[in-house]
Amino acid sequence: MSEPEEATVYDLVGGEQFFTELTAAFYRGVTADPELRALYPETDLGPAEERLRLFLIQYWGGPSTYSETRGHPRLRMRHAPYPIDTDMRDRWLRHMEAALNEQEVHPIIADAMWKYFTMAAISMVNVPDGDPVERAFLEAEGESS
Ligand code: HEM
Repeated sequence: MSEPEEATVYDLVGGEQFFTELTAAFYRGVTADPELRALYPETDLGPAEERLRLFLIQYWGGPSTYSETRGHPRLRMRHAPYPIDTDMRDRWLRHMEAALNEQEVHPIIADAMWKYFTMAAISMVNVPDGDPVERAFLEAEGESS
């Protein structure tokens, strides 16, 4: 007897539309934040919004269009060209938090997403600040890549 398929977070939030609205709200925040906006190389943020949207759809259990078009995510490597310090991390997170708060979503799911975003954003920092543990971590990462 086959196991019933488990519902994914993608299903639970109602599918694609949730992620379309989340990333649109997030990029409205980025657009209004000149210092963070300056990190994004393209004049048009539309393609970046679409990449984040497809990535999140895939990550939370929806269709894998992201990997079919972009390959393996390797997010830390893809962020290496952009200097991300803790200030940029916090700006990114602030806009994602606001975007998440705009959505109607069960608090358990919002919590899970927020935990994931926090962890992922922390791991994207590639410019060390004064913290010695972070500095040692980033130096070790640099040697191994
Ligand atoms: C910590 C702060 C972060 C900053 C400042 C930042 C900034 C950027 C920039 C400048 C780009 C290039 C724009 C583009 O051409 O797509 C980018 C791409 C991307 N970011 Fe971030 N990012 C951050 C965190 C994150 C996190 C936490 C995630 C996922 C949860 C994420 C997911 C992505 C994805 C999927 C792409 C497109 C990758 C590709 O396919 O080329 N980013 N980000």
